[in-house]
Amino acid sequence: MTAQLIDGNALAAQVRAEVSHRVQALKARDVQPRLAIILIGEDPGSQVYVRNKVADSEQTGLAATLERYPADMAEADLLARIAALNADDSVHGILVQLPLPRHMDSHAVIEAIAPHKDVDGFHLASAGALMVGQPGFRPCTPYGCMRMLESIGMQDLRGKHAVVIGRSNIVGKPMALMLLAANATVTICHSGTPDLKAQTLQGDIVVAAVGKRRVLTADMVKPGAIVIDVGMNRDEAGKLCGDVDFANVKEVAGWITPVPGGVGPMTRAMLLVNTIEAAERVSR
Ligand code: GUN
Repeated sequence: MTAQLIDGNALAAQVRAEVSHRVQALKARDVQPRLAIILIGEDPGSQVYVRNKVADSEQTGLAATLERYPADMAEADLLARIAALNADDSVHGILVQLPLPRHMDSHAVIEAIAPHKDVDGFHLASAGALMVGQPGFRPCTPYGCMRMLESIGMQDLRGKHAVVIGRSNIVGKPMALMLLAANATVTICHSGTPDLKAQTLQGDIVVAAVGKRRVLTADMVKPGAIVIDVGMNRDEAGKLCGDVDFANVKEVAGWITPVPGGVGPMTRAMLLVNTIEAAERVSR
């Protein structure tokens, strides 16, 4: 059996088109949705990410302003800048690119963002809202994974067993909560879970979000399962690859997301969804 591909590029293009429509509707009411992005320091990976976020925003008609500060910026100055953006009604979403320089307390910085502008979904208020089923912003990566499941008709997961490998605060944990909210039975594991294979073989849906190559191999996958690969790694040849042994797992799974071209573009697209949502909420 060869799995069907869940094409993240194609689905992300569809999501961006939906966002564009919503942007136009707000602009027709004289509201220009705006995302403020803060980048501190010169981390090369972060520079690529923020450049993409600005380009994605502008492509959909969202205004994006990128503020760059030196790596030795004082935390108090950053907090003051966030407070000013919180108070600025022309700014609907605020994103502080992570990782921050080591002298800064990431938690304190994230908590300084007004929850109604927390388009990353990293604030405690956003995490709490997800936990108790209240409206709030969902972290973009698991939110994009849920959208991928919906795209193949998997919105109600009643009777389905989902296995999440990885327990990060921005992917594994919120992913598990979103799957639960969609009525799945959920098992959450980490890379050191004893007999991980016994767990993953139970999964009608398996989400791999560890950040290590070949965490999920073909022998660990139930035939026909849906496999979502959140990993972003490099193989021996320096080529981008996920956590899933794609070449072999695709012969067992029913559906699979590729890397690149899977969860990555969806994560980017869901930031735009959160940003337009933030602007719509304050403009109702
Ligand atoms: N660094 C890597 N990914 C992300 C993300 O999704 N949001 C922020 N703020 N920083 C990141």
